[in-house]
Amino acid sequence: MTTGYRDYDHHGYSDHDHITPNDAWMEKGASTGSGKKKWVVIGSIIGLVALIAIGVALGVTLSKKSSSSSSSSSKSGSSSSDPSNFSKDANLKQSFYGIAYTPAGSQLPDCGNSLDDVISDIQIMSQLTTRVRLYGADCNQSALVLEAIKQTKVNMTVFLGNYPVSTDDDAAYDRQRDLIKSAIQTYGTDHIGGVTVGNEYILNYLNANGATDPNGAVGNQGGELLIANINDTRSMLSGLGVSLPVGNADAGSYFNDLVLEQVDYGMANVHPWFANVSVDQSAGWTWEFFEVNDVQLAQGLSNTPEMYVAETGWPTKSSDVADESNGPSTASVANLQTFLDTYICQANTNGTKYFFFEFFDEEWKDKQYGGVEGWWGLFNANRTLKDGITIPDCVLS
Ligand SMILES: *[C@@H]1O[C@H](CO)[C@@H](O)[C@H](O)[C@H]1NC(C)=O
Ligand SMILES: *[C@@H]1O[C@H](CO)[C@@H](O)[C@H](O)[C@H]1NC(C)=O
Ligand SMILES: *[C@@H]1O[C@H](CO)[C@@H](O)[C@H](O)[C@H]1NC(C)=O
Ligand SMILES: *[C@@H]1O[C@H](CO)[C@@H](O)[C@H](O)[C@H]1NC(C)=O
Ligand SMILES: *[C@@H]1O[C@H](CO)[C@@H](O)[C@H](O)[C@H]1NC(C)=O
Ligand SMILES: *[C@@H]1O[C@H](CO)[C@@H](O)[C@H](O)[C@H]1NC(C)=O
Ligand SMILES: *[C@@H]1O[C@H](CO)[C@@H](O)[C@H](O)[C@H]1NC(C)=O
Repeated sequence: MTTGYRDYDHHGYSDHDHITPNDAWMEKGASTGSGKKKWVVIGSIIGLVALIAIGVALGVTLSKKSSSSSSSSSKSGSSSSDPSNFSKDANLKQSFYGIAYTPAGSQLPDCGNSLDDVISDIQIMSQLTTRVRLYGADCNQSALVLEAIKQTKVNMTVFLGNYPVSTDDDAAYDRQRDLIKSAIQTYGTDHIGGVTVGNEYILNYLNANGATDPNGAVGNQGGELLIANINDTRSMLSGLGVSLPVGNADAGSYFNDLVLEQVDYGMANVHPWFANVSVDQSAGWTWEFFEVNDVQLAQGLSNTPEMYVAETGWPTKSSDVADESNGPSTASVANLQTFLDTYICQANTNGTKYFFFEFFDEEWKDKQYGGVEGWWGLFNANRTLKDGITIPDCVLS
């Protein structure tokens, strides 16, 4: 199953020869430190991967909103009162398959997002891609994005997201399902690519229950909980008389097969940064990891779900010195540029369906988690392109 994949060994994923970033670290770092210390580090890597996920969309309590940039005058466009009439920025190229996006102020309980901000974001992102994906539905973000697409009249497809948690008796799932349902009733399905149910659900479920194998007993238990949500979303859609793909997103080596067998598509987070891969090797590593762990896995299932890279990217800085590098490469604008230059056009040529992580820096994540968590944007939080970033030019047709 892993013929030709020589760089990393397998540790404990014999069911499917899954290779995790943590395994990669283990292999490379196996000669250093005690077993215990190693596991502490591995745990923290898992934790960081999880934080990315948790950080994106979950209804986390936040004391501060991040929508204070709404008065920024630096946006490309939006000066006209007609949102479909906006000036284009010559530095932006429609080279990305897709972009990962969470509107600022989309975390409960504060929310604070606004249609004006989302319109600005969609105006900018429409110059980079024709696809965005959301992680959750709280704070009305599905409707805001669909309304912004409607008003800007841009060619944009959005993959809506429902971010359930396993411990709340489906409260988060139900709340978001109803928001998604209402958005579909208002806007129809023309600009919706699918509904993604679950974001790193299995990874989080394993961590919460002290297990590591996504296809072991605990993984299957979590999988059954998530499948109930997936089935319920299908029922909701068929009740509306609409047909949309239903998918799932998880860390690239944490898919539960029972879950994948119930979805039309899977979205895999593939992060060279968290796998301690040098930036120079990151593009090839990302391709290979995704092929071996996700594409080949899906091809072996009876329903052959379509696979996407849900997230890949590179952080440009850290809020503390200790997290500035994770192994051989540092968080920097120059390294993000290297990853852009080596991944984007090549992945397009290879036909990889990926969502670049991510549109802009997220202040709330930096406040809540620190480290590199808030600094993965192509754009600063105020929606200016990061200084030193050149968008690759290989416009997708
Ligand atoms: C936007 O944010 C960046 C990074 O913090 C800063 O350097 C830049 O001056 C800001 N630009 C505007 C117009 O606010
Ligand atoms: C678009 O907006 C610009 C700037 O506000 C304005 O000059 C122009 O007339 C508008 N074009 C249309 C077709 O509305
Ligand atoms: C809109 O984007 C899709 C790809 O997402 C492309 O296939 C289609 O041709 C585009 N439509 C127009 C009118 O440009
Ligand atoms: C959600 O957003 C849409 C689009 O802006 C708006 O029409 C609707 O009233 C909003 N709903 C809530 C509950 O804010
Ligand atoms: C989900 O739906 C599938 C297909 O209809 C069905 O086989 C399965 O039993 C359902 N599982 C749950 C947990 O609802
Ligand atoms: C594209 O595919 C080739 C193999 O055909 C691989 O070596 C390369 O790393 C891939 N590049 C990207 C950016 O995915
Ligand atoms: C990352 O890998 C490099 C070797 O490529 C090693 O020197 C370093 O200790 C590793 N760091 C971590 C945090 O695993």
